[in-house]
Amino acid sequence: MQLDQICLPIKDEMDRLDEVMRGHVRSNVSLVTEVAEYIIENGGKRLRPVLCLLASKLVGYTGDQAIQCAAGLEFIHTASLLHDDVIDHADIRRGRPSANAKWGNHISVLVGDFFYCKSSDVFTRTGQLEIVQLITDTITATTEGEVFETIKSNDIDIQEDDYLAIIRGKTAVLFSAACQIAGVLGKVSEEMQAALAQYGQHIGMAFQMADDYLDYVSDEAKFGKTQGKDLREGKLTLPVIVALRESSESEQKIIKEALLSERLEEFKFKEVVGILNKYNALEHTRELANKFAQDAKEDLKIFKPSLAKDSLITLADYFVYRSM
Ligand code: FPP
Ligand code: MG
Repeated sequence: MQLDQICLPIKDEMDRLDEVMRGHVRSNVSLVTEVAEYIIENGGKRLRPVLCLLASKLVGYTGDQAIQCAAGLEFIHTASLLHDDVIDHADIRRGRPSANAKWGNHISVLVGDFFYCKSSDVFTRTGQLEIVQLITDTITATTEGEVFETIKSNDIDIQEDDYLAIIRGKTAVLFSAACQIAGVLGKVSEEMQAALAQYGQHIGMAFQMADDYLDYVSDEAKFGKTQGKDLREGKLTLPVIVALRESSESEQKIIKEALLSERLEEFKFKEVVGILNKYNALEHTRELANKFAQDAKEDLKIFKPSLAKDSLITLADYFVYRSM
């Protein structure tokens, strides 16, 4: 199913989201506005807002704070990508030159800080200390996840558990917060809040695993990122971890050389993909992503049937079987 169809219960809010975001990022410094506009206009799937808005519908919250929090979540995500693209030396984001490629690292980091401050502003304005605390804890965990990933990059002894801890931190906690915030806004029971947080965590794990799978197989024009970016960056994600575990010494050597090489030639990338396929490493990654997605669906059992619930269930499969 297409994301647009999944988002039908929140169509009005999604149609308003970019305008709400634009309203928060005006600056007297024209370059800040220019970079912020470039990023907002460039789109993206807006998955964290989608989760927050669908979960708000699920719990029957109808106030304006859901869309404000949705914008705040997208600001955090934007800030983290601006910083991440500097860390990763990325050239392309969402099919267009990344901000660091266009304006340089300094501007990227600073506009990232600007977005981060705007998210603080949005969440503070909710007047709900519980939400501010949740977001603070989330960003702390995200940063720790990213640092842990940096420490582990090029470490060929990395284990699957390390990988799971990294993606939980750098990705899943924000998905989890996006869902839990709706529970706070809707003042639902602790049990329901925990179920929302858990759903977000599971779907976030599924999302990142699918991302790491797509990194190897996806069409660059669709995915909006350079194919094989992770391997080129020396990033050991699940497909490579599985292959390193299963392959022969000579095959391990090929993978290691690819991870360490400054400029990876196309035939060497293809050689590594061949090894990943030989050991079903990509398939294994997708299967594990699917397992997390199925767990996410289970988490929603506590909620009564609704269109929003149907969308959240379908979203779990979309996360695994998307192509972008
Ligand atoms: C993308 O992962 C990056 C993240 C999911 C998190 C980045 C987090 C930080 C830089 C720390 C937090 C900072 C702030 C300001 C909140 P990826 O590199 O695997 O994905 P990609 O292929 O899309 O780049
Ligand atoms: Mg990156």
